[in-house]
Amino acid sequence: LITSAACAAAIASLAACGTSAAPAIGGEAPVILRLALNQTEKHPSYVALTGFGIRLQQATGGRYRLDVFPNEVLGAQQEVLGLTSDGIIDLAVISGTQLENINPDFRVFNLPRVFDSVEHQMKVINDPAVVGDLYRSLEGDQHLTVLGGFTQGERNLYTKKPINTPADLAGQKIRVQESPVMLRMITTMGGSPTPMSYGEVYTAMQSGVLDGAENNEVSYFTQKHYEVAPHYTYTKHLVGLDYLVANSETLQKMSPEDRATFDREWTKTYEEFVTLWDKATKDAIEGATAEGAQFHQIDTAPFDERLEPLARSFLANPTQQQLYDRTRQAATR
Ligand code: GCU
Repeated sequence: LITSAACAAAIASLAACGTSAAPAIGGEAPVILRLALNQTEKHPSYVALTGFGIRLQQATGGRYRLDVFPNEVLGAQQEVLGLTSDGIIDLAVISGTQLENINPDFRVFNLPRVFDSVEHQMKVINDPAVVGDLYRSLEGDQHLTVLGGFTQGERNLYTKKPINTPADLAGQKIRVQESPVMLRMITTMGGSPTPMSYGEVYTAMQSGVLDGAENNEVSYFTQKHYEVAPHYTYTKHLVGLDYLVANSETLQKMSPEDRATFDREWTKTYEEFVTLWDKATKDAIEGATAEGAQFHQIDTAPFDERLEPLARSFLANPTQQQLYDRTRQAATR
């Protein structure tokens, strides 16, 4: 799917990793599952996934080992999605905004205001009656199976100058994830969107290519974005979602017993994540405040008025409409 210098380097480093596998109990070399992540080792997804790896190895008697590669070392999300599809790596954590580009039905969960809270989101995205077809929809052409997700929590704006109203965003270049919904969202909120991969955002804000970005407190803190955009404003524009995506053949190659173990341990992992997330959010606010960041609560009504019609305008077919309706029916308030 993709051939770039970064991927070539990633593939070369994977080959090197493959040779270091320790034999499993019983002498067989373990199957190594390689997982790409764009977060630092301090992010709760890294913490949760390394725990998943340890439990998977123990529960399969060492037949499986999970190697988590953090910090975009295997590439940005668009690249690692291609590597997972091609079976060069086995697993990746991918923001919903990237899946929207290969099946637009995923956009329903990326829309502003579709989820009221993390609790609402978790109820919907782990309900096979709602998401079963969607999660299997990439298996045919893309060889990708969606296994479920980690919340990204509430996403908010952060900038060099304080923001109170849509008018304050005029002319402000705000980084967005590479997706049509995100582009339209920032335009609707009053700013000028610039799509860019996650790992490039710090430098772009530092050099003035960007005036700000939008993300949760955990990414704001772990990526040190507060150093270059000290005003974090609670616009509460959406509750984001990351998916664990697997190469479908990797999963098919597992024995039914190992697959059941894998699924059981993954379920524990995403359940545990919600608790890790709450604590990480509190720590991020505390940590960034200690470094001089300012967190601003604002009246979100002027943003709400603009964002509410946006969601519905994006629903392009009956599948999307149905996903949206079922999601809203499951709302917690
Ligand atoms: C969050 C999310 C990532 C995503 C990032 C981004 O950190 O967890 O998956 O890539 O936002 O804004 O790009």
